[in-house]
Amino acid sequence: MAVDRNVSDEPLLLPSGGQPRRASKLAKSLARGTLKLAMWTLFLAWITMFFVIPTEVGTDFYSDWEDATSGTLYGTQGSVLLLYSAPILLIAVLAVPYLLLSGGQEDDAIAEQKKSPGLRLRTFPVLVDGVFGVVSAAEFIGIAMFVAFVLWAVYWYTVVNFEMLPSYGDLTPLEKRVQMLQMSAYIFGLTALTCLAFLFLPVARGSILLRLVDIPFEHATRYHVWLGNLTMFLLTMHGLCYFIVWFIRGIVLESIIEWKSDGGANFAGVICYCFGFTMWVTTLPPVRKRFFELFFYTHQLYIIFVIFFALHVGDTYVSKAAGGIFLFMLDRFLRFWQSRRKVDVISATSFPCGSVSLVISKPKNLQYNALGFIFLQLRDISRLQWHPFSVSSSPLDGSHHLSVLIKSVGEWTGKLRNSVSDLLVSQTQLYGPNASIVASVEGPYGHESPYHLMYKKLILVAGGSGISPFLAILSDVLHRVRDDKPCLPRDILLIWAVKRSNEISLLSTIDMDSICPSFSDKVNVDIRVFVTRESEASLEEGKIEKVVSLNTRSRGGSMSVLVGTGNKIWSGAYVVISILGFLITLALLDACYLNPYSISKWWYRGILFVGCMFVSVIIFGGGVVYFWHRSENVTPAGEEDREESERIGYMLDQETTQYKLCENTSVSYGQRPDFKEILGSVSDSWGCVDVGVIVCGPQTLQSSVAKEIRSQDLRRKNNSPVFHFNSHSFDL
Ligand SMILES: Cc1cc2nc3c(=O)[nH]c(=O)nc-3n(C[C@H](O)[C@H](O)[C@H](O)COP(=O)(O)OP(=O)(O)OC[C@H]3O[C@@H](n4cnc5c(N)ncnc54)[C@H](O)[C@@H]3O)c2cc1C
Ligand SMILES: NC(=O)c1ccc[n+]([C@@H]2O[C@H](COP(=O)([O-])OP(=O)(O)OC[C@H]3O[C@@H](n4cnc5c(N)ncnc54)[C@H](OP(=O)(O)O)[C@@H]3O)[C@@H](O)[C@H]2O)c1
Repeated sequence: MAVDRNVSDEPLLLPSGGQPRRASKLAKSLARGTLKLAMWTLFLAWITMFFVIPTEVGTDFYSDWEDATSGTLYGTQGSVLLLYSAPILLIAVLAVPYLLLSGGQEDDAIAEQKKSPGLRLRTFPVLVDGVFGVVSAAEFIGIAMFVAFVLWAVYWYTVVNFEMLPSYGDLTPLEKRVQMLQMSAYIFGLTALTCLAFLFLPVARGSILLRLVDIPFEHATRYHVWLGNLTMFLLTMHGLCYFIVWFIRGIVLESIIEWKSDGGANFAGVICYCFGFTMWVTTLPPVRKRFFELFFYTHQLYIIFVIFFALHVGDTYVSKAAGGIFLFMLDRFLRFWQSRRKVDVISATSFPCGSVSLVISKPKNLQYNALGFIFLQLRDISRLQWHPFSVSSSPLDGSHHLSVLIKSVGEWTGKLRNSVSDLLVSQTQLYGPNASIVASVEGPYGHESPYHLMYKKLILVAGGSGISPFLAILSDVLHRVRDDKPCLPRDILLIWAVKRSNEISLLSTIDMDSICPSFSDKVNVDIRVFVTRESEASLEEGKIEKVVSLNTRSRGGSMSVLVGTGNKIWSGAYVVISILGFLITLALLDACYLNPYSISKWWYRGILFVGCMFVSVIIFGGGVVYFWHRSENVTPAGEEDREESERIGYMLDQETTQYKLCENTSVSYGQRPDFKEILGSVSDSWGCVDVGVIVCGPQTLQSSVAKEIRSQDLRRKNNSPVFHFNSHSFDL
């Protein structure tokens, strides 16, 4: 191992400060602690409620609760809303001051990292392959809790139903069974509704809740997938049981088309299920992988799904899932506004392997960290498609731009590569009048905290295009080392598996020596490239490769700051005011229409309820977005912006037209990295320390690394490192 050099083990810089700073820090941490306690209490009470309600005690409590609140302004719908959705909305509201107080605390958090190494629930892989992929201990607990909840709810509802059976009069044994089946159908529906309460939470990309728990959208989508499968399974059981009951009773057709006013509208339920089922089928891995567009566009049917769901179950039941749906609506609305802006691509670089690097203009006040990613739309290629890409730059590379590195793997990325090549060929001058790429951008999303800075030892494992985020991490660390900013990593081992050697030139997008001259005195960087599909060097180490780049014409368009992960005050105000607006709109609806006119049709009340959610997002959320947008326009794009843009393009033309492997890079041919050997040797030389392992690459690569980490951690000796598994997934 070339990683054990003579480098001090202390953090590069510990924050200093006097008495007032310490006092304000203490006050802040006290306030944060109180908020955290309040949010945890609410969350645990919420979860407990889900477990208690199906039991006999819970059933009694629920009907008492309904009776007690039925005469109030919000009525039964309000009491259900309070029980099921208010806790999560309140947590979202409390998260606003919590995140505000956490702002700027990252550096302190880095410096205050706990010293003694140990396993953590979030980073210890329990399952390493199979249908769930790599599952951490924390995720395993989550899965177990959901499974336990479903079994628990079905069991208790069945017990309660069984006890209710005599109340249906003298039934024959067959009628009893049919009645039980009908009640079971209802139970499955109720349980699916609980899953629905969680289903939308992980896919609100810039959601305050994801920021709060520091789980990026890219990672959270897997929870949505798991929950989606469970919800659809339960809905299928719900529909199937009803169908069998109707079949036995010989009333299939009339039951299917029934549209009751006082009770669930069956036909709306059937339509809702059909749309849900279509979405479900297209999410299956073979369809999703091969026909991503089909999956994606079919998934937009969720709008119709929600509408017919509301028509089917009415306002009281919609209230159970309203919290998650409302937070999703908020996110979707903000995304709509952000994505309307035309953004300049400042520069484009084409690499011999077909990858393209784009530098995109962003305003100074739009923050991101090196673990972020954006969604990109290029209208010249497709007006509908949005593709996610990790940032390959550090925020410290420049405040007015970010970069992405895009590998050509399919239709869209192939067209991008061709467009950039065409532009390069057609430009005789660097700043030709026609050289222009205009994009729309959404994001940045990603990790709230830069966790890569919190490990003294880092192992970065990339497969193919998975190198992108690691270029950002390397750059980030080197900038911090140069500027003496808090940053723990001292030993960085980058393992990169590529199929072909022509991909190696992508390393040229980071010039470590120019970011931090003599960086090797302060931080050990060891880069090991494994070329898996070539048995020998087709280009010898150090051989020069050509990389071409051009500056595109700037039209002055920069990314919009209207994003959930943007300014904490504005995004917080957006959440809080919209939630208040929703409650006000609902109260007005109840007070001015539903109550005075005694509107009781379930389906009608259901659709009005969803309408209220929509209207409050548009009016109240829209109001905040309007002022937020105006404040954005006040921030001048400025000369500085343009100068930096021009500098970036020029820098690339000057410095990356040729590339040479740097001395700390080794290349092996015809073999995959052997993680047993790599982690084993690190284990011997690094001693007892927390080692952050971040993997970005194919599922198989993630599994191999997770498997080895699990095995190393389980048979770890006192003086060995604790490996922490973190993944960065490119598969939505
Ligand atoms: C969070 C994240 C970060 C990523 N970062 C990078 C990066 O830095 N560099 C890079 O080269 N690639 C990155 N990718 C992968 C990149 O998004 C896909 O390679 C690209 O979208 C493929 O589009 P295509 O039409 O050319 O390929 P296709 O042949 O249409 O698709 C190939 C595969 O790409 C995936 N895919 C296709 N379209 C989309 C889409 N709109 N959204 C999500 N996945 C899609 C599907 O799994 C599909 O099977 C990232 C993906 C994610 C989810
Ligand atoms: N390619 C796409 O169409 C596409 C699109 C969207 C997202 N993604 C995702 O993006 C990431 C990178 O894709 P990519 O196409 O750029 O990668 P790639 O070219 O397929 O390269 C992956 C590299 O990782 C190696 N590898 C795979 N499994 C391994 C294991 N278990 N142990 C050691 N090495 C292993 C491969 O070796 P071998 O050559 O021996 O297999 C290969 O060299 C993946 O997460 C992928 O799922 C890919």
